[in-house]
Amino acid sequence: MSTAETVRDGAVREGSAQDGAAREGFAHDGSVHDGAVAVREQTPARLAAAPWHADPYVRALHAGQGPLFLRRADGWMLPLDVERWCADADAADRTVLRRCQSPILDIGCGPGRLVAALALHGHPCLGIDVNQAAVARTVRAGGPALCRSVFEPLPGEGRWGTALLIDGNIGIGGDPRALLTRVAQLMAPEGLLIVEAAAADVDERVRVRVDDGRGDVGTAFPWARVGSRALLHHAHAVGWNPVEQWTARDRGFVSLRRTPPLPRSSAER
Ligand SMILES: C[S@@+](CC[C@H](N)C(=O)[O-])C[C@H]1O[C@@H](n2cnc3c(N)ncnc32)[C@H](O)[C@@H]1O
Repeated sequence: MSTAETVRDGAVREGSAQDGAAREGFAHDGSVHDGAVAVREQTPARLAAAPWHADPYVRALHAGQGPLFLRRADGWMLPLDVERWCADADAADRTVLRRCQSPILDIGCGPGRLVAALALHGHPCLGIDVNQAAVARTVRAGGPALCRSVFEPLPGEGRWGTALLIDGNIGIGGDPRALLTRVAQLMAPEGLLIVEAAAADVDERVRVRVDDGRGDVGTAFPWARVGSRALLHHAHAVGWNPVEQWTARDRGFVSLRRTPPLPRSSAER
């Protein structure tokens, strides 16, 4: 069995055949494996994320391009950057990647450019996504990935060194505080969470549909959009402290930790 292998349900098992006996956690080489999932069940968490299985998204992933949008009930459309997601990690992505501490969990990895780049450089990492086409693409790109919702049990809970919520993924589930609380359960106590914030100063919870702009529309699901100000507010409310904020190629990122910031030395005051 190769490093990451698609099993018959489209989920991906990482590690060797021998590793399959272990149920979950980090292997001796620091990789993450998950021998527990072989049959893909429709759990409540997956059903909630079902709209991301919508045909317009799957078709865009297969084609490697849009157009694709999240469409609000009032007709407002948020363009989704499928071409960038399906390309290699770019300079802005690399500002995220070089801050990562292993092992790294990419939540909502999509077609997997981030985990593919991390794996290429030998970092133990895992992408998770509810969409099987995304997971399959991630594996083809060389990144280990698992078809799983972030709200379901995951390998290595409480031990991830970094979690990524990139490309608007703080919107997953439509409730940033619930997501940030869930991510806290996944992380090691000193773990680093890196979130990409919306470019606009927004704080909205909406119902959206995936829409290709040509009449192919998925079902409605909850989503959230938060700019960095709202992100810091929600994060603070559930116990995350900001570490750093930066922008790259017009994208804004915030890193956070659960632990209180270290007291500044007298020389710094
Ligand atoms: C805005 S897209 C971001 C894509 C991705 N970061 C990339 O590089 O292509 C959101 C992604 O999150 C996934 N997703 C949605 N709900 C999820 C959940 N509950 N758990 C894990 N992934 C989820 C979707 O399938 C989709 O691939």
